[in-house]
Amino acid sequence: MPASIDQFKSSLSVWASGVCVITYASSSKKGGVTVSSFSSVSLEPPLVLFCLAKDSHAKEAIENAGNFAVNILSVEQKQISADFASGSLDKAAVLEGLNPETLTTGAPILRDSLASLDCKVNQCIEAGDHWIFIGLVEAVVTKEGSPLLYFNRNYRELV
Ligand SMILES: Cc1cc2nc3c(=O)[nH]c(=O)nc-3n(C[C@H](O)[C@H](O)[C@H](O)COP(=O)(O)O)c2cc1C
Repeated sequence: MPASIDQFKSSLSVWASGVCVITYASSSKKGGVTVSSFSSVSLEPPLVLFCLAKDSHAKEAIENAGNFAVNILSVEQKQISADFASGSLDKAAVLEGLNPETLTTGAPILRDSLASLDCKVNQCIEAGDHWIFIGLVEAVVTKEGSPLLYFNRNYRELV
């Protein structure tokens, strides 16, 4: 029998993580979604994953685009995290306002992120109430800085 949702969530809340925004742009829809469920998967080939809730509005656009970018946020990008986690903001307008660049795949890259990984969709696997997106990393850009962290339902920073 599975653990209760509240106990499960409370155990996950003590997992300290970084914060990423997954950005995407299909021909008909662009935006971004804040995630903490990012992980590396494989070195050769270079694969990464993130988990996307089935009630997110991003799935179809990412699949249609065939690519996405993982932007690992710096501590200065807390507001960007909040904006892309918002249930009410227009994510296309938020993305547009950040004047994103592109690298290889055409996925939008958020300037000033600590790292951006430009990915081609490799697999999308159904897992419970989430989709697991696996991406093949085609290009990366990195910068110096301090990471935005998430722990115990709050943003944190390295001290
Ligand atoms: C720190 C943080 C981490 C999050 N991690 C995830 C995640 O891993 N997967 C996910 O689907 N949503 C995650 N969310 C929630 C989404 O960002 C949020 O539901 C967002 O509004 C979805 O946007 P969309 O429906 O426009 O795609 C996270 C939110 C925050 C603040």
